[in-house]
Amino acid sequence: MYTPSETRYSGQIPYRYCGNSGLMLPCISLGLWHNFGDADDFGMATGMIKYAFDNGVTHFDLANNYGPPPGSAETNFGRILKENFRGYRDEMIISSKAGHEMWPGPYGDRSSRKNLMASIDQSLRRTGLEYFDIFYSHRYDGVTPVEETMQALIDIVRQGKALYAGISKYPVEKARIAYDALRSAGVPCLINQDRYSMFTREVEEGTLRLAHENGCGFIAFSPLAQGLLTDRYLNGIPEGSRAARSTGALKREQVTGEKVEAVRRLNDIAGRRGQTLAQMALAWILKDHSVTSVIVGASSVCQLGDNLKASDCPEFSAEELQEIEKILRKSLAGK
Ligand SMILES: NC(=O)c1ccc[n+]([C@@H]2O[C@H](COP(=O)([O-])OP(=O)(O)OC[C@H]3O[C@@H](n4cnc5c(N)ncnc54)[C@H](OP(=O)(O)O)[C@@H]3O)[C@@H](O)[C@H]2O)c1
Repeated sequence: MYTPSETRYSGQIPYRYCGNSGLMLPCISLGLWHNFGDADDFGMATGMIKYAFDNGVTHFDLANNYGPPPGSAETNFGRILKENFRGYRDEMIISSKAGHEMWPGPYGDRSSRKNLMASIDQSLRRTGLEYFDIFYSHRYDGVTPVEETMQALIDIVRQGKALYAGISKYPVEKARIAYDALRSAGVPCLINQDRYSMFTREVEEGTLRLAHENGCGFIAFSPLAQGLLTDRYLNGIPEGSRAARSTGALKREQVTGEKVEAVRRLNDIAGRRGQTLAQMALAWILKDHSVTSVIVGASSVCQLGDNLKASDCPEFSAEELQEIEKILRKSLAGK
């Protein structure tokens, strides 16, 4: 049976099927890691969720520890839903995760069954949701047997607390075990979430291919390398930017001269293509149709609007791809 790889509803961003499942996700999803905590502007957070949804971004990506403080992104998202989205739950895909440090003691961190089962109940309480659409194991923790973590995901789905299971940041060999365990229980892995951008391409070494071979979707996080792959740092580190904020995960020292030089050259190519660098960086990932979606972050509606236009970008010519590759190789060599 022929299934189109992309479906577009009028005036909105396109949707792609997530692996072999029947679930379509918007090719651009919105992540709530930064900018949705209690330390952030609630009005802006609300504006971004509304703008995203109005433009077809039906998928919102959370985790138990997003904030700061940890948990506050889920609480704030729940409040935004309650105040603005009553009656729209069936039009939304809401994801959360567990596996990073969340509460004190031996059960508030890592990927044990104890952690996942307690976490999903906490996340449901914070958001006020009856269920998540996707619940992830946030990471392979290096100790917990993958089978134990997967059994927790299987039970979470069977209990109706999530509709689908996903994994995030699993080394290839551990992902293989996870796919097999989930499939044999009749709860196939819907999606694999990992870091992927022009500057971080490790998933090209096996993760992407294995997900595809297992009928699993793939979703890229930090597709703009936390803002590096935009015009944000072309003229230094601006006040209020992620690299300037003490709570930001991008450190000042990661904004190196070499990176900025590569960004400047990529920015020139984007300009020639009639788009912003952010748009080109997202389109570059989405040219591979085994990628279901990219999860962008944003600190303003304006940035989000810029990013959503990535879905209207022209195809890349072979020359453009070669030129981009040359810049990326050089920047990798200088790491
Ligand atoms: N599974 C995991 O372990 C994991 C890990 C990390 C992230 N994630 C998910 O992935 C999501 C996205 O990650 P991310 O926030 O690192 O993504 P990103 O899209 O790479 O970076 C987002 C940041 O880039 C800047 N930016 C975005 N659009 C811009 C534009 N058009 N022009 C200029 N600057 C722009 C903003 O920084 P400023 O604040 O400087 O404006 C924004 O906060 C997270 O929210 C989370 O849901 C998952």
